[in-house]
Amino acid sequence: MNTPANTRKSLDTLFIKTYGCQMNEYDSSRMADMMKQAYGLRLVGRPEDADVILMNTCSVREKAEEKVYSELGRYKKLKDKRPDMIIGVGGCVGQQEGERIQKRAPCVDIVFGPQTYHRLPDMVKQIRRQRVKLTEIDMPEIEKFDHLPKAESHGISGFVTIMEGCDKFCTFCVVPYTRGPELSRPVGDILAECRQLLAGGAVEISLLGQNVNGYRGGGPDGEEWDFTMLLYAVAELDGLKRLRFTTSHPMEMTDELCVAFGEIPQLMPYLHLPVQSGSDAMLKVMHRGHDRDTYYRRIDHLRQHCPDIALSSDFIVGYPGETDADFKQTLDLVRRVGYDSAYCFKYSPRPGTPAGKSDDDVPLAVKDERLQALLSMLRQQTRESMLRQVGRTLDVLVEKESRSQGDMQGRTPDFKIVHFRGNPRQIGQIMPVRITEAYGQSLRGELI
Ligand code: SAH
Ligand code: SF4
Ligand code: F3S
Repeated sequence: MNTPANTRKSLDTLFIKTYGCQMNEYDSSRMADMMKQAYGLRLVGRPEDADVILMNTCSVREKAEEKVYSELGRYKKLKDKRPDMIIGVGGCVGQQEGERIQKRAPCVDIVFGPQTYHRLPDMVKQIRRQRVKLTEIDMPEIEKFDHLPKAESHGISGFVTIMEGCDKFCTFCVVPYTRGPELSRPVGDILAECRQLLAGGAVEISLLGQNVNGYRGGGPDGEEWDFTMLLYAVAELDGLKRLRFTTSHPMEMTDELCVAFGEIPQLMPYLHLPVQSGSDAMLKVMHRGHDRDTYYRRIDHLRQHCPDIALSSDFIVGYPGETDADFKQTLDLVRRVGYDSAYCFKYSPRPGTPAGKSDDDVPLAVKDERLQALLSMLRQQTRESMLRQVGRTLDVLVEKESRSQGDMQGRTPDFKIVHFRGNPRQIGQIMPVRITEAYGQSLRGELI
């Protein structure tokens, strides 16, 4: 027999575990806003203290997916002691695996996807009424955003998802299947959400999407706006000091967007422009839609308009069929472009993708070797770019207290982390800091 809802313990606390990209971070914060509004749930830092546990998952690589099940093992033990606890699994694994998750981990009450999390309050209500298992992973048209409460500001740096999904279908990637087709939010909605964050104290906004520069949304003038038009409009909002975006695709790196980096003072000189490989043959089989020379041309154009721009990228090593010669071209590309930072991954076959059907034929030892070679070149480039900052005075947006006492932490325009002696009252301000030392991943300086 089901326990009547009124004898259940009330729901007070929520724990969210987030994996994956910044779009998942955004979604998690919207889930928190929503559950707060619907049930008055308060976020807690430990699953032990939560009445509702939500996992927002990533399936981009196999490792990410495995983590979900090991973490669920931990939550099961908590639920054995407190059967009233509600456990939900959302995000990209939720979307891909659906009910299979509940079969493998029966402690899971709710499975949902990146496009259905706005239904969480209803799903929770249903479960409280009647202990059922729910799976909601159909892909509605972009209705999600119309059902979310107003975004709450969570500090000086705000994130706004401007488009969902991906239509690029790179052969290795699950995202088009887990997040669905590319859909852009209307300009007016995006501006309203940015204003909301700025009113709540944000001074920096990052626009998010899998391919933000593929943005095509309805403008207030009834016309279709592209990404560059949107950038100019966001940059004009009162109170905005810094504007960033991620991720963009080389294929849609338009001339106008390169020019915008030189023209919009709020647009920070940092660009994450994943290339994956430096071999034309690999770029072709990966279905990236451009060759190496096109990438170089875009980078050169960008640097013409914004000479100090810091670049970062993603790389995959050991894609099926990748030869030593292909890999060498990736190293050549890294040498030619010069990155401030980059993420490197060993190819991981994903079910349901075209590449997942080919033979994963590069031996693990070779993948490891290539990964190490690439990482060591990139680490060297990071180090050099950090060292170049020493002696310079940089504008640092102060973000938070640093872990060591009396120190504050902030970011330079090109996204490098800086520690300096400061004061929590400086949070949210942009202060001139003279850089005195460079470490592997961060800088140290003193306030001027
Ligand atoms: N939309 C972004 C990337 C999204 S996924 C873009 O197009 O650049 C983030 C990164 O994960 C990718 O850039 C890629 O480097 C990596 N990745 C995606 N699928 C992968 C796979 N099957 N194996 C290894 N790395 C993968
Ligand atoms: Fe995946 Fe390619 Fe889309 Fe990026 S552009 S999300 S790598 S399919
Ligand atoms: Fe992962 Fe989904 Fe983002 S697969 S990288 S969480 S879009």
